[in-house]
Amino acid sequence: MRSYNVAVVGATGAVGNEMIKVLEQRNFPVKKLTLLASERSLGIDLTFHGKSIPVEALTENSFAGIEIGLFSAGGSISEKYAPIAAAQGCVVIDNTSAFRMVPDIPLVVPEVNPGAIALYKNRGIIANPNCSTIQMVVALKPIHDAVGIKRIVVSTYQAVSGTGKKAIDELSLQTQALLSFKEPVAKVYPHQIAFNCLPHIDVFLENGYTKEEMKMVNETKKIMDDQSIMVTATTVRVPVFYSHSESVNIETKKKITADEVRKLLSTAPGVMVVDNPSNKEYPLAINAAGRDETFVGRIREDESIPNGINLWVVSDNIRKGAALNAVQIAEILGSKYL
Ligand code: A2P
Repeated sequence: MRSYNVAVVGATGAVGNEMIKVLEQRNFPVKKLTLLASERSLGIDLTFHGKSIPVEALTENSFAGIEIGLFSAGGSISEKYAPIAAAQGCVVIDNTSAFRMVPDIPLVVPEVNPGAIALYKNRGIIANPNCSTIQMVVALKPIHDAVGIKRIVVSTYQAVSGTGKKAIDELSLQTQALLSFKEPVAKVYPHQIAFNCLPHIDVFLENGYTKEEMKMVNETKKIMDDQSIMVTATTVRVPVFYSHSESVNIETKKKITADEVRKLLSTAPGVMVVDNPSNKEYPLAINAAGRDETFVGRIREDESIPNGINLWVVSDNIRKGAALNAVQIAEILGSKYL
């Protein structure tokens, strides 16, 4: 692969920071790295491969000569600036939900539908899916290919880092306050998140589901390229800093045993099976944090139906759920298409 001029938009955020780290760790061939954020971040320097790079303020003129733009500064920033960047020849890999369901914009998880990256040519934009959806489809794609998935029932236990840096601070400040018998302050979430579970991620929609829940429904069908899969989701924010956990129940078209699922997933790309209950071994958020794999365990047959499987799926939401998935897309884009 030749090297590329890369920009990270939202470089000072939780995901942007991780994008810089992942580009460095995977030795992505970067010719020049441009770091963009709001004017508030002027004066901040970030480090890449030991070199200090100043953060610049994002403007319409930020993209001249940039070939790949990794965007994670919020949906409204992407809506405005991704088309501007694309018009200047920069391929945008967008981590927000702004373009995910636009029919001619590819929504990509490299382990599942790498071929869709070719569709970047339509608009110069590739969408990175929702963090909870990514780890679920990484775990389910091999099963879908083997026996067909009819229906998915998922409940999530999502880390606060998915909301950004301010939410990470809110969980620590509330925890400190409560342990010192002080009043916790809730600014980012509508209720106290410390020592609590909030069945409310993103906004409520007319059908009574949250937007996060409907992202899981709609994005799964698009990434798997199968509108027939039935999906229902309950998404919950829990007081965990990093890594989302998910209870996933599936009904398959053909019967598959728990042992067969274990065997199938043991060679699946991006998956690590951790499933040894007699040794108290199962995927844990604290062990997945900082790792690249999607961890799957507690694999059991659902005894209430003929063809059902239960799984516990855990992955670092900032890495595979965001930054790593985006950089993996950039790697394929670079080596196959640019
Ligand atoms: P800044 O730090 O300058 O506000 P997080 O998701 O962790 O909250 O991070 C959000 C990222 O998006 C940050 O890098 C933030 O930059 C950036 N951002 C927010 N608003 C804007 C904006 N209006 N223009 C450019 N970048 C923005």
